[in-house]
Amino acid sequence: MTDHHKRVAILISGGGSNMVTLAQSMQGDHPARPVLVLSNNPQAKGLERAAAMGIPTAAVDHRPFKGDRAAFEAALLQPLLEARPDVLCLAGFMRILTGGFIERFHGRMLNIHPSLLPKYPGLNTHQRALDAGDAQAGCSVHEVIADLDAGPILGQATVPVLPDDSADTLAARVLEQEHRLYPAVLRRFASGDRRLLTL
Ligand code: GRF
Repeated sequence: MTDHHKRVAILISGGGSNMVTLAQSMQGDHPARPVLVLSNNPQAKGLERAAAMGIPTAAVDHRPFKGDRAAFEAALLQPLLEARPDVLCLAGFMRILTGGFIERFHGRMLNIHPSLLPKYPGLNTHQRALDAGDAQAGCSVHEVIADLDAGPILGQATVPVLPDDSADTLAARVLEQEHRLYPAVLRRFASGDRRLLTL
């Protein structure tokens, strides 16, 4: 880690497979380095995986705040301010952030979403693609704005939907592409390149 490396904080809620691929990619001539893995779930498996990779971790449990988003976000901000990230990557972070929090990191917060946005913002994306009879599905990396899953798209990867697909089998095929797309987009974004990348 040197001064010229961009500092990246990764926010997770669960297993953290995207976090692992992002962190593993930030080596050698990559313009960025991970400085924090932060979770709203203290039991998130991804925190253990990050610690095993030697990345500082922190957890701010949202449950004690009982829906008080402003208070939760004020607490979430503490480890972030200490880590001084240049870029925030939401990677399976399942809390919806307020416009005020997002504005604070305007233009430097990314998210991975398991659909070909603008199709299927929100949850259950794979089942919705199956129910619609789509021939293709995929994932998107986008900049985060106040509107959920609606920011400028920086990258997309497409997969075929197979006749005997279930939501789970489709999710597994899309996740493989997430693990290729997010690191590729982050490398470009960290060097100031915001052109759309399609895989
Ligand atoms: C990924 O499919 C991501 O697109 C979605 O949540 C899942 C997180 O998986 N938002 P992981 O925790 O990165 O394994």
